[in-house]
Amino acid sequence: MSTEIRSQQKKITTHTLRTMKKNGEKIVAITAYDFTFGKLFDSAGVDMILVGDSASNVIAGNETTLPITLDEMIYHAKCVMKGVDRCFVLVDLPFGTYQGNANNGLQAAIRVMKETGAHGVKLEGGEEVIETIQKIVQAGIPVMGHLGLTPQSIYQFGSYAVRAKETHEAKALLESAKAIEQAGCFSILLEKIPFAVAQKITQQVHVPTIGIGAGNACDGQILVMHDLLGLNNDFHPRFVRRYANLENDIRSAIKNYANDVKTKQFPNESEQY
Ligand code: KIV
Repeated sequence: MSTEIRSQQKKITTHTLRTMKKNGEKIVAITAYDFTFGKLFDSAGVDMILVGDSASNVIAGNETTLPITLDEMIYHAKCVMKGVDRCFVLVDLPFGTYQGNANNGLQAAIRVMKETGAHGVKLEGGEEVIETIQKIVQAGIPVMGHLGLTPQSIYQFGSYAVRAKETHEAKALLESAKAIEQAGCFSILLEKIPFAVAQKITQQVHVPTIGIGAGNACDGQILVMHDLLGLNNDFHPRFVRRYANLENDIRSAIKNYANDVKTKQFPNESEQY
């Protein structure tokens, strides 16, 4: 699509996302970490891109999201922003930039906004991050909350199992959702919780909920791009639907390339000067 046509399309804002919830129009979200995929997803009609701290796993090869730094998140977000024209882009505040200190959280969010040009930030947690959410929102920065399975607290929980299966946990989660909405979150990501719990939260908060492993009652869905595109054959949880099998496609393309080089079939006459 030409730059001219793309720039004529309406940009997605927090207002657009709120209206989509009101109208029952589902929100399409996906993660991205670089220019090429940011541009591709933007032109394919995605509404929201999250520069997720899952970059720690899928880009940097770490076991958890904990090691990624603010500088690294800013680098990925800058790359994505160069390819985006229309989507609403959020950036994860990484572990250690906001936990236990609202002022640090605000400074991290300001750096993200100033240095990347992204449109908002996401952070994990409920009541314990209320003050941080309030400070960031008061600075005019849209904040998405993140409840349910919160990977930055993985060592506290000890597993990536489904959260809020017990009635008292589900009740607590609903209260957390209402509390972070009240604190100013414009949207809430719900990760790996039962359908019925996500449905109740979605019905009882006024802001859009975006689900991952949280069933189809949420106002929108998000998947990590590597999972959706089948870039990692070793990871297939129940909540992921694969729309491509790029790991196999890429491996076979590279094998063909290697074979052509070894057998001197590449480059041929028309591919050289
Ligand atoms: O970092 C990430 O990719 C996330 C997912 C839950 C979408 O937060």
